[in-house]
Amino acid sequence: MPDLIDVLSQDTALQIRPDHPAPPPAPFLEALLAGLSRPDKAIPCRFLYDAAGSKLFDAICELPEYYPTRTEMALLRAHAPQMARRIGANARFIELGAGSGGKAEFLLDALMAQGLPPAGYVCLDISPVPLAATAEAIEQRYPHLAVTAVCGNYLGDVDLPPSTARDVCFFPGSTIGNFERHEARAFLAQWRQRLSHFDERGAMMLIGVDLKKDVPTLERAYDDAQGVTAQFSLNVLTRANRELGADFNIDQFRHRARFVHDPGHIEISLVSQSDQTVTVDGQRFHFAAGEALHIENSHKYSLSEFAALAADAGFSVDTVWTDPRRWFSLNLLRAER
Ligand code: AVJ
Repeated sequence: MPDLIDVLSQDTALQIRPDHPAPPPAPFLEALLAGLSRPDKAIPCRFLYDAAGSKLFDAICELPEYYPTRTEMALLRAHAPQMARRIGANARFIELGAGSGGKAEFLLDALMAQGLPPAGYVCLDISPVPLAATAEAIEQRYPHLAVTAVCGNYLGDVDLPPSTARDVCFFPGSTIGNFERHEARAFLAQWRQRLSHFDERGAMMLIGVDLKKDVPTLERAYDDAQGVTAQFSLNVLTRANRELGADFNIDQFRHRARFVHDPGHIEISLVSQSDQTVTVDGQRFHFAAGEALHIENSHKYSLSEFAALAADAGFSVDTVWTDPRRWFSLNLLRAER
């Protein structure tokens, strides 16, 4: 078993063991009530990922229209050896988020194969079950690697285990796209402060970033022909009904994904198909016909926009790997001193 270190207290402290009962629904209820009380109704996108939502997201990754996962995988497959050489030996490899479907393994394999073994591997995730599964898989594949699982929120205060190694942080999947521009900047700046760098190579972050491209390609990726993404979106209402006793009429909401040019993001909403009232925890919320309930943004960058954002956060771009169509990028950032 890998070390399980609880760094977040309160809402995750009880969730460390996989066999522990599910946490109380309070955070979802509070967030939903607050989100439905706003003039521009919204539900934070983290609530999309319950068990059913995570399965649906896996299905999204297989869709012909959803190019990010497959493009990032292809970049890793093609360039992992070169990435490993840029990363170098004796780095502490920190993966933000569990269950990236073997993406870290590409890099770890390449590091091992070239005689550049990392000093250790740390996985950080807010959900203990996928966290433990990821850490155990890594531990089995690399028996000599020191594996640590940290249950915590990479957006919050994180206490990484003490280390004397140079840190290299891996944040794949364009998860950074879920952050607003200013949040992405703050996130990078915070990790810039947190990463340790004990030699001249400096701490690094390898980040998957989805790129700006023609609007139809972008919109199709978030509104596929089979309707899997629509199911993924609507699942948050099903979840609210099941967990919180809400009475959303799922048939009366429609998934909508559209590209917003400024600053450049896919905006996903559930649009009310009629004048209707929803009750959550005894509170009634009115939806006009055509009113949107915002559930997710997925920000898209140009390479220069992302480099500028990284620079604002104290990083320079070491290397960028991108596909021939320039649809997706893996950006290796180096902490400036
Ligand atoms: C998990 C945030 C990378 O923005 O592409 C995919 C989420 N939502 N389809 C993305 C998502 C609908 C995804 N991220």
